[in-house]
Amino acid sequence: GEIYAIENYCPHAIQTLTDGEVFGSMIKCKKHGAVFSLVDGRCIGNERIGNLKKYSASVVDGAVIVKL
Ligand code: FES
Repeated sequence: GEIYAIENYCPHAIQTLTDGEVFGSMIKCKKHGAVFSLVDGRCIGNERIGNLKKYSASVVDGAVIVKL
């Protein structure tokens, strides 16, 4: 297991990605369908939308630690 942390707002129209569809290592924004890599936050297939911020994440003593 790898653990990743990315920001939770699609930059296209500031839509939360909480309800987005996850498939493989990607997430699809529920509002208009932009797809982002969960690994590095890159927007896939539409560079104009922009990328998500990626944060450093790790598991320490069973707790997820995200450096913002
Ligand atoms: S708000 Fe996410 S694709 Fe439009």
